Amino acid sequence: MTTIYLIGAGPGDPDLLTVKAARLLAQTGAVLYDRLVSPEVLALAHPGAELHFVGKREGEQEAIQNEILHLMEDCARRHPSVVRLKGGDPMVFGRGAEEWAWLVQRGWNVEVVPGISSAIAVPSLAGIPPTFRGVSGGFAVVTGHRQEGGCDQWAAYAQVETLIILMAVARRARIAQCLIRLGRDSQQPVAFIENGTTPRERVIVTTLAEVAAGQVEVSNPAVMIAGDVVHQRALLREAACNFAAA
Ligand SMILES: C[S@@+](CC[C@H](N)C(=O)[O-])C[C@H]1O[C@@H](n2cnc3c(N)ncnc32)[C@H](O)[C@@H]1O
Repeated sequence: MTTIYLIGAGPGDPDLLTVKAARLLAQTGAVLYDRLVSPEVLALAHPGAELHFVGKREGEQEAIQNEILHLMEDCARRHPSVVRLKGGDPMVFGRGAEEWAWLVQRGWNVEVVPGISSAIAVPSLAGIPPTFRGVSGGFAVVTGHRQEGGCDQWAAYAQVETLIILMAVARRARIAQCLIRLGRDSQQPVAFIENGTTPRERVIVTTLAEVAAGQVEVSNPAVMIAGDVVHQRALLREAACNFAAA
């Protein structure tokens, strides 16, 4: 029976794929991939595989989501296995669970292969650990892409020591204004990491106040992380420089 694999492609660096993901990618005849799957990861697909780009743009999500589901079925009728490849982990803001449920309801065999989520790996590899003893005892991963509304929707997260926000680029100033209004220190450090773990990575370190004032230029995709753990990046770099100079 055909198996449809819902696979996490990790944040971009092909070395961050799981062994299982790399093996399945190399042997599967049809791959449907999202906008956030890096070219470096896609290059690991079987040379003869059908590659279907199914990335969505703002406003066309629902129509395209429907097409993706039917395309997966079409591929599954023609191949012994199909890979549905999503950036990071398919169950973290990836609609992986929705696709899983839809396919299972229609009788397909589905297997999930988790991926390394950008939410944790991208800050960590930039020298910003989500937790650090004595600095942050916990973190929350939240979408910045919420429906329009007041700052109240941030109330449950404003006091979390490390706040990791995905899809925050477009609404970054508003998010920072809300967090300050809800009592977060305006001088708290914030980092944006664009295209994390790829050769295109760029790290911006700033403060909540500067983000709130609209003074920080950032491009998609980026992870936003607010909290005192952001200071660790400078401390690590300083320690490495001191060691090199000694
Ligand atoms: C629709 S969500 C998908 C998250 C994904 N499932 C995961 O676990 O990483 C897309 C958001 O993830 C973040 N993202 C994904 N890959 C990234 C990367 N390589 N660098 C920075 N941000 C990334 C960005 O915030 C982007 O807007």
